[in-house]
Amino acid sequence: MISILITGGAGFIGSNFIPYFLDKYPDYRIINLDLLTYAGSLENLKEVENHSRYRFIKGNICNRELVEYIFNEYDIRGMIHFAAESHVDNSIKNPGVFVETNVIGTYTLIDVAKNYWMERPFVYKKEYKNCRFHHISTDEVYGILGEVGLFTEKTPCAPNSPYSASKAASDMIVRSYNKTYGLNTVITNCSNNYGPKQHDEKLIPTIIRSAIRGRSIPIYGDGKNIRDWLYVLDHSEGIDLVYHKGRAGETYNIGGENERTNIYCE
Ligand SMILES: NC(=O)c1ccc[n+]([C@@H]2O[C@H](COP(=O)([O-])OP(=O)(O)OC[C@H]3O[C@@H](n4cnc5c(N)ncnc54)[C@H](O)[C@@H]3O)[C@@H](O)[C@H]2O)c1
Repeated sequence: MISILITGGAGFIGSNFIPYFLDKYPDYRIINLDLLTYAGSLENLKEVENHSRYRFIKGNICNRELVEYIFNEYDIRGMIHFAAESHVDNSIKNPGVFVETNVIGTYTLIDVAKNYWMERPFVYKKEYKNCRFHHISTDEVYGILGEVGLFTEKTPCAPNSPYSASKAASDMIVRSYNKTYGLNTVITNCSNNYGPKQHDEKLIPTIIRSAIRGRSIPIYGDGKNIRDWLYVLDHSEGIDLVYHKGRAGETYNIGGENERTNIYCE
C-alpha cells in the first residue's frame, strides 16, 4: 500500500479528485489533511468516508508538527497539494490568510516532504526515490486572458489579486525546491473549474441560484472578461496524468480550450 497525502480534499476539486483516485488506484491509501474552513465540508466526501484506504485528518497545513506526524505515522510517499484559500473576492477583503495558507502552508508542506524523503540536496533516501510533490495551482498567476490566444507555460507571471499573487508565490517556492534541492516536483496551473460540489460563492453556482430565483444575475464590470472553463473531473484526469507521467521540475497548464466572456451566450 502506498500512502499519498492529499491536502484540501474536502473542498471542491479535492473532493471530486479523491473518489476518482481511490477507485482508479487500488494500491493507494489516501490521507486527506483539511482544516474544514468555510470552503470545505465532509458532506463532499460521504461516498468515501468509510473506505478502507481513506483517512481524514482535520488540521492546518501550516502546522509543521502535525504535518511531520502525518509523514511519520503514514510513511507518506507522495503529495498532491490542493489546500488553499481560493476565492478572489475574499482575498481582496482579507489578504493575510491567503499569504498564510497559500504561501506559508505550501512552504511548510514542501519543507517537511523534502526532509522526510531526502538525505541531502539532490540525494533521495533510497526507499523514497521518486516520491513526488504535486502542487495544484491556477492559471490566474498569468493575469488576464486577452481576446485571442491562450496562456502557455511560458506566459510571464502577472498575478493581479492577492489570491493569484499568493498562488504565484507558492509556485515559486515549489520551483525553488526543485532547483535548489532536487526535489521531485510538478506544478499544474489550471483554468476555472465547474461541476458538482462547488461552493455557492463561486461564479457558476451564483448565476444558477440567481436564475432559479428569478433574480438579476450579478456580473463583474461589463462582463467581458474572458475565462477558460474546465469540468472538474477532466481536471482530475489531468492531475492524474501529470502526477504519474509528468517530468520532474516541470509546470503543466491544464485547460479546456473553452474560453468565454462572462456574458457569453450561444
Ligand atoms: N476552483 C477552481 O476553479 C480552481 C482553478 C484552478 C486552480 N485551483 C486551485 O485548486 C485548489 C483547490 O481549489 P478548490 O476550488 O477545490 O478550493 P476550495 O476553496 O473549494 O477548497 C479548499 C480546501 O482547502 C481547505 N483549506 C483551506 N485552508 C486550509 C489550511 N490552512 N489547512 C488545511 N486545509 C485548508 C479548505 O477547508 C477546503 O476544503 C486550490 O489550490 C486552487 O488554487 C482552483
